[in-house]
Amino acid sequence: MNTSEKVLFILESNKAAYTSGEEMAGQCGVSRNAVWKAIRDLREKGYDIEAISNKGYRLAQNTDIISAEGIRAGLPKDLRNVDIFVYDSLDSTSDTAKELAMKGASGGTVVVAVTQTGGRGRKDHSFFSPEGGLYMSVILKPESLPGTDSKEITSFVGSAVVNAINELTGIEPYIEGINDLYVNGKKICGILLESGSEFDSNTLQWVVAGIGINFDSDISSFPEEIKERASSLFDTGKATVTKNMLIAKILERMFDCQPK
Ligand code: BTN
Repeated sequence: MNTSEKVLFILESNKAAYTSGEEMAGQCGVSRNAVWKAIRDLREKGYDIEAISNKGYRLAQNTDIISAEGIRAGLPKDLRNVDIFVYDSLDSTSDTAKELAMKGASGGTVVVAVTQTGGRGRKDHSFFSPEGGLYMSVILKPESLPGTDSKEITSFVGSAVVNAINELTGIEPYIEGINDLYVNGKKICGILLESGSEFDSNTLQWVVAGIGINFDSDISSFPEEIKERASSLFDTGKATVTKNMLIAKILERMFDCQPK
């Protein structure tokens, strides 16, 4: 991690409180001047960082910029070393995650994008993926799965997402069809599972779980054919949690799927 990433991790981990420049410099092992430069760098990237003399710095409470550090700050300690890749835009997070899985990436590796230009759903459907949604794909290895049966894996991933949303927001989505999440009769999330196996022995090697959530999406801007059936977890700008927090909670539930 460079100094900006370290400072961002500290700010994301302490959103309620101010952290002094001196404290951050100590934790990062750099000078206070280097911390100040990192703060400037983060502000240039759009972070709203409040500063009070004699108290220090903190992130504005409504900050919701997806980042690896923001996700990591929400993870339990034993999951913090997973690989997290965040992009402004990708064709499909699942395509990128599958490429990584084929190259031997570890279980828990997660690919996130702010928007997707070629988001895919089941049965070759496209998945409309504008800003405001949450698009993530997670690599799962057989050792962290309940079995190799596709129904079991489907239900395991669906439950992890349902439980994560419920725990953080109090909203109670339910699963319809193969693995769509609904709230009040409208779809808020689609899940696409894809796998790779060794052909000769028919041994499962990896599963990529692609999750698309209408987070605080502007449904009125959706194409006519899906507008009627889709809804969003929150109204635009009214989210009570951040996307980073929800991504972290989904990962936590996937790797320890029991709700507390
Ligand atoms: C469906 O509704 O049929 C499943 C939709 C799955 C969409 C997610 S968004 C993240 C990941 N990347 C994709 O291209 N698809 C999945």
